[in-house]
Amino acid sequence: MVTCSHSLSANIEGESVYRLFLNILIHRMNVLGFDICPVLQALIAVAVVGLLTAISIIKFYNFVTCGYYRERTKMNGKTVIVTGATGGIGKETARELAKRGARVIMACRNVDSAKAIRDEIVESAKNENVIVKKLDLSSQSSIRAFAEDIVRTEQRLDVLLHNAGTAENKIIKTEDNLEKTMATNHFGPFLLTHLLIDLLKRSAPSRIVVVASELYRFASLNLNNLNPTTSWIPPYMYYVSKYANICFTNELAQKLEGSGVTANCLHPGMIDSGIWRNVPVPLNWPLKLIIKCFFKTPAQGCQTSVFLACSEEVQNVNGRYFMDCKETTLSRGAMDMSKAKKLWELSEGFANLSPTDPKI
Ligand SMILES: NC(=O)c1ccc[n+]([C@@H]2O[C@H](COP(=O)([O-])OP(=O)(O)OC[C@H]3O[C@@H](n4cnc5c(N)ncnc54)[C@H](OP(=O)(O)O)[C@@H]3O)[C@@H](O)[C@H]2O)c1
Repeated sequence: MVTCSHSLSANIEGESVYRLFLNILIHRMNVLGFDICPVLQALIAVAVVGLLTAISIIKFYNFVTCGYYRERTKMNGKTVIVTGATGGIGKETARELAKRGARVIMACRNVDSAKAIRDEIVESAKNENVIVKKLDLSSQSSIRAFAEDIVRTEQRLDVLLHNAGTAENKIIKTEDNLEKTMATNHFGPFLLTHLLIDLLKRSAPSRIVVVASELYRFASLNLNNLNPTTSWIPPYMYYVSKYANICFTNELAQKLEGSGVTANCLHPGMIDSGIWRNVPVPLNWPLKLIIKCFFKTPAQGCQTSVFLACSEEVQNVNGRYFMDCKETTLSRGAMDMSKAKKLWELSEGFANLSPTDPKI
């Protein structure tokens, strides 16, 4: 260490690293033929160094403040469903749970890409017990087929992890006549939870984990228009769906009290993932830069999901909201249980629950 710092200071002959960097930058500009006055060159160099320093500080801040789940809790003998495990946070969640020995069911709409990712996870996690099943959360027939298959073939279900999500940039009506973002992010998980609840109860203690988002704070829940298939502001329905995730979890937790099944939700952080892919040009240009410079990685983004799926610390915790592996507070509106109850009742209709479906 001493030798290393000694030789470094010898190499730069008394200059600070920054001054050396500035000189290199100015030299490069000269080489590239930029004939600008030395003052401007220095200003540009200072701006570049300032920006790089800011990015490094924020990356370091992200690293230090990200809540990491460091316990080595094993999940052998446990079965976990992770929806939307083909990329981003879901893929890293599936990998982390597989590393801990769980049987991981990757519930994905694109089976071909899911199978390639499954092979990658099997190799890195050294766990063959990872399988892919088809699930399109925007289609109620797909959800019913998936749930029927799970109930018929799986002995137990210890964790249902609602991770899949989308943020559409135009009005898309699903085959069930629902707005697609709401269908995928809220009505789909609502229906799936009902169809798997008996298996979860039979496997108790078991857990339901819902990946919500702090962006819910930009929305309110208009209970008179939960399925706006005509007038629509692009990103807004995403925020509304995340609001719905939280209210759904709160009501679900209350209904499950004493059943041995818990339900909690979380914000994963701002993560460099595919969720931003539908942001339109030209908004996406600065956003891409911001994402690459300042957002956390999917591996950092999966930490709170993994924590809620396996930590013994939250074994009996029910109906709470987490961020960075710690419980955090919700807005007053999101904690309004009368709103949550009404959302539940309306969702029963939109999800087309039938009298023969399991009740929660
Ligand atoms: N990234 C963030 O900053 C952030 C912040 C807060 C919350 N979240 C939440 O984190 C969760 C994971 O998102 P991500 O950031 O990892 O985004 P992502 O990289 O886009 O991953 C989303 C996953 O959901 C799947 N999916 C989308 N529509 C589906 C459908 N109809 N049926 C089944 N699966 C579907 C995608 O599958 P395909 O590969 O087939 O598209 C993909 O596997 C989402 O619930 C999101 O709202 C993300």
